Parts: sequence; structure tokens; C-alpha cells
Amino acid sequence: MSGDERPKEKAAKRRQRYVPHLAEFTFKPTYDWSEGQAASLYAAAKPLDDASLLDQVLFEDCITGMQRIPENSIDLVVADPPFGIGFDGKSSVYNRDVTLVVDGYEEADGSYKDFTLSWLAELPRIMKPQASAYVFSGWTNLDAILDGARKAGLTTLNHLIWHYPFGVYTKRRFVTSHYHILLLVNNPKKYFFNKIENYPEDVWIVKRQYKMGKEKNSTRLPLEVVTRCIDYSSRPGAIVLDPFMGNGTTAVAAKTSFRHFIGFEVNKRLRTLIRREIDRVAPGQNYTPYSSRLPSVEELAELYPRAYKEYLRRAGEK
Ligand SMILES: C[S@@+](CC[C@H](N)C(=O)[O-])C[C@H]1O[C@@H](n2cnc3c(N)ncnc32)[C@H](O)[C@@H]1O
Repeated sequence: MSGDERPKEKAAKRRQRYVPHLAEFTFKPTYDWSEGQAASLYAAAKPLDDASLLDQVLFEDCITGMQRIPENSIDLVVADPPFGIGFDGKSSVYNRDVTLVVDGYEEADGSYKDFTLSWLAELPRIMKPQASAYVFSGWTNLDAILDGARKAGLTTLNHLIWHYPFGVYTKRRFVTSHYHILLLVNNPKKYFFNKIENYPEDVWIVKRQYKMGKEKNSTRLPLEVVTRCIDYSSRPGAIVLDPFMGNGTTAVAAKTSFRHFIGFEVNKRLRTLIRREIDRVAPGQNYTPYSSRLPSVEELAELYPRAYKEYLRRAGEK
């Protein structure tokens, strides 16, 4: 070994050493599109063979509805099925004005396990090989969803927790303040995933939104939660399916992100509410390129001064 190898090795090691948050300064999303590119992809999206399905919410049972969708046509599924706990959203513990909750929230018919098996079994045929499905579940029925997904042949890629600072007051147990979101894929070797943040954690802290004084279905996901699923797991122009449309959150999230949607909902009383929600937004109105959503170097420098110093040092070496 020659005498000057050691200092060289040392210098190389110093250059390589791990500095917390340094990667954020140079991080870029895996895929990104300008607003113009996203709008063109949305406009050019190939319609389904059955054009009557695209950008529509159909008021029928999702199992028979999904059987009409051509195979290999769905890019992403977002599903927030009924809870199977006899929920109608009107109980006084939910602290709501029940006159504003639309009647007819449908719980699962018969055994929750069987219901879950039947609707999940429809997914693999209609999902493209690179497609994903985000399935929401409370902890009480998680078993049925995990089992149904396995039996349908879908692979669980992540088990996300959505934490919301809202829960029903309890005296002798913990307040439930989270939801489970399973990220399932058709093909674990081929699925699409756009890493739009450097460190995308599996715990999402998003407040539930309340539309005070406005008519609503008895449950509603925050637009931000559904939009996150769409951003990470689909491209502009993609087709997003929601078998349990509720208030139309997925349709609104898809349309405002330059994605198309197909939805099913058995409660016909939601027709006017859903139509209104979809019509009041414009395609792509919430879309901005993913790189523009990241913190700037100046913002990162303020947060992580040590990493910034190292970022400048390494940039100077190039
Ligand atoms: C938990 S809610 C969905 C809420 C929705 N994610 C939102 O943000 O508004 C479930 C919805 O599924 C509907 N539903 C229940 N069984 C169904 C079925 N077999 N086919 C289609 N919709 C169904 C219910 O009427 C209810 O509106």
C-alpha cells in the first residue's frame, strides 16, 4: 500500500458520508409533467371501448358495474367501502346536524367477509398490470380486506396509516383516530409508483374536512388524502376507478388532477350532490408539476443548515 492511499480513502469517505436531509437538496420526482403536458395527456387519453363509462358515476351496485368494465383498462383504484359496523353517520356520537346527512348510506349486504371477497375479486381483471389499488378500512374490518386482497391475488405493498385528529370521545378505551389504507398491486414487478417526495412515509397526518352547513353523505374522505393516492400511483390522463363513490371525492380529486374517473354508488339520492361537486371544478385546477411542490433550496437551507453547508461543499467539488 503506498503512503498517500490512506488520506485519499479518508477524503473519499468524507465525501460519501451520510448527512441527514442532504438528499432533499438534490431530490427530483421520478416522473414529472408541466401543466401543458399534463393537460395534453388528459385530452389525449384513450377512451374505453365502452365510452359510456368514462368520467361517469353510475348509480348501481359496484360488483355488477365492474363486470362491464373491459379488462386491463383501469390505472388506479381508490376504494372506501362501507365499514360493516351498521354505520349510517347519524348517531349523536358523530356530533353532526343529521338533517344535512343524505339518507340511504348503504352498508354491506350479508356477511362483510363475503361482500369484501366479491368486490375485491373483480379488481385484478380490470386493473392494468402496472395498476395499484388503495383500499381504506377501519381496524375492525381490516382482517376481511387483507384476506379478500390475498384471495383476489393482489399483493400488499404498503400498509399506510391515515391519522386524523378526530375521534369519538371514550371513557374506558383509546380514541380511534386512524384509518388503514392498503396499497395493493396487481403485479409487484411492474407497478407504477411516482416517488414525488424524497422520504414518503407510511403515516399520513391529514385533518378531516368539514363542510359546515352543507348537505353531505355520511362519510367523506379529505380531498388531500385521495389526491395523494392519485399523485403517487398514476400519470395524468390515467383512469381512476372508485367503486364506492359516496360524495364524489375521488371524481373531484381525479378531475382536478388531470385524471379521468369511473365511479359506482348504490345510493341514488346522492346523484344531485355528486353532479354538483364534479361540475363545480375544472380539469387540472389543482394540478401543479410535482417538482414545484418541493421545498426550495432556500427553504431547505433554513431548516437544515448543516446539510446545506455539505450540499454547497459537494456542489463546489463538481
Ligand atoms: C364509506 S362511503 C364512501 C365515501 C367516499 N369515499 C367519500 O369520500 O365521499 C361508502 C359508500 O359506498 C356506498 N355503497 C355501499 N355498498 C355499495 C355497493 N355494493 N356498490 C356501490 N356503492 C355502494 C354507500 O352508499 C356509501 O355511499
